[in-house]
Amino acid sequence: EEAKRIAHTLHDEAAQLLASVHIALDALARDLPQSMRSRLEEVRDLLDRIEGELRRLSHELRPTMLDDLGLVPALQFLAEGVAKRTGLSVEVRGSTHGRLPPAVETALYRIVQEALTNAVRHAHPAHVKIQVQREARAVRCSVADDGVGFDAATALAHRGGPGLGLVGIRERLDPLRGSLQITSSPGCGTRVHVAVPLEG
Ligand SMILES: Nc1ncnc2c1ncn2[C@@H]1O[C@H](COP(=O)(O)OP(=O)(O)OP(=O)(O)O)[C@@H](O)[C@H]1O
Ligand SMILES: [Mg+2]
Repeated sequence: EEAKRIAHTLHDEAAQLLASVHIALDALARDLPQSMRSRLEEVRDLLDRIEGELRRLSHELRPTMLDDLGLVPALQFLAEGVAKRTGLSVEVRGSTHGRLPPAVETALYRIVQEALTNAVRHAHPAHVKIQVQREARAVRCSVADDGVGFDAATALAHRGGPGLGLVGIRERLDPLRGSLQITSSPGCGTRVHVAVPLEG
C-alpha cells in the first residue's frame, strides 16, 4: 500500500506540478527581456533533470510492486495510470491464485505493458480489457482492445518492420516456452493472448 501510494504520488502529482511550473515559466518568459530568457532556460534544464529523476524513481518502484504484491495488483496499478493519463477505460480481471515464479511474473507484466501501450498508441480504442487466468499447468493472459485492428500475420512476419514490441513479446516468451496468439483484423479490434506453462 505504501509503495503504491508513493509511486502514485511521484508519477501523477509530482508530474502534474512540474507541468504547471513549466507553464508558469513559459508565461514568465514571454514577459522577460531576451537577455533574461537564457537564465530561465537554465531553470528549465534543472526542472527536466528533476523530472527525469522522478520518472526513474517511479519506474524503480514499479518492479518493487510486482515483487511485493504480485502480477494482478501490479497490472491494476499500471492500468490505473494509463487510464488516468489517456482517459481510456482499462479493466483488469482475473487472478493468479497466489504467486507465480518471478520470471513468469516479470515477463507477463512486461508483455501486458507492451500490448497495452500498443493498444493506446495504435488502436484508438474506447476500452481495453486485461485478463489473467490461472490454470492447473499454465497461466494465460490477454489484452483486448476495441480499436481499429491490424493485419497481425503480416506485422509478425515482417521482422525488422516498424517496431520491436511484438518481437520483444515473442523473445520474452521463448525461454519460458510460452506461446503468443494475436487475433485481429482491420475494424474489429485486437486481442493479444499469451500462455505460459507452469511446472508441477
Ligand atoms: N492493438 C493494436 N491495434 C492496432 N495496431 C496494432 C496494435 N498492436 C500493434 N499494432 C500494429 O503492429 C505494429 C507493430 O507493433 P510493435 O509493438 O511491434 O511496434 P510499434 O508499437 O510500432 O513500435 P515499438 O513497440 O517498438 O515502440 C504497430 O506499428 C501497429 O501498426
Ligand atoms: Mg509497440
